[in-house]
Amino acid sequence: MIIAVDGPAASGKGSIARALAAHYGLPHLDTGLLYRAVGVATARSGGDPDQEADAAACCCIDDALLTDPELRNEAAGALASRVSQHPAVRAALFAYQQDFARQKGGAVLDGRDIGTVIAPDADAKLFITASSDVRAKRRHLEDSHADYTDILADILARDARDSERSAAPLRQAEDADLLDTSDMTIAAAVQRAIALVEARIRR
Ligand code: DC
Repeated sequence: MIIAVDGPAASGKGSIARALAAHYGLPHLDTGLLYRAVGVATARSGGDPDQEADAAACCCIDDALLTDPELRNEAAGALASRVSQHPAVRAALFAYQQDFARQKGGAVLDGRDIGTVIAPDADAKLFITASSDVRAKRRHLEDSHADYTDILADILARDARDSERSAAPLRQAEDADLLDTSDMTIAAAVQRAIALVEARIRR
């Protein structure tokens, strides 16, 4: 069974995807981490994340980089959003993600284009969302030293870049179920996600 989980930053999609993977005993791939690795590698090499050639030259990701805690910070998220605009970067990361999705037994993948591009044939697709205010508050709780207004501005900029790009923009697949987590605890959102997947696979 392949489960595709897409949505904007801080929507809860990562937590939901991890919980679904544990629930169904499936391997999980956080595809955002791949773009974060390319973004950080591009910056570390002195390249310009907005230049396609610079970013495309940094798509050979090694396993050590994927465990680097720096990949989790907001700066890495912004770099990822910038390098993910480039078709050459998306093409370089495509086969790895598709192979992961198609492994025997299936998988759970979360990102921006899983239901639309990487696994359009997924058995269940969820599009997780939440209001920008709620998403910024969640990020603020994780890092209370950061300024709330800056976090909100960063989230809005990232939403615009991820949704308005021409290469595989963030959008809900036509056959995806929408789950708005704005007023939900994570536990409630996970229960709802499992119910949506169950309803899909019983159809
Ligand atoms: O899910 P995340 O916040 O770790 O993703 C970081 C950035 O990577 C996101 O702003 C856009 C890009 N991304 C993408 O373009 N496609 C994906 N499947 C996953 C992430």
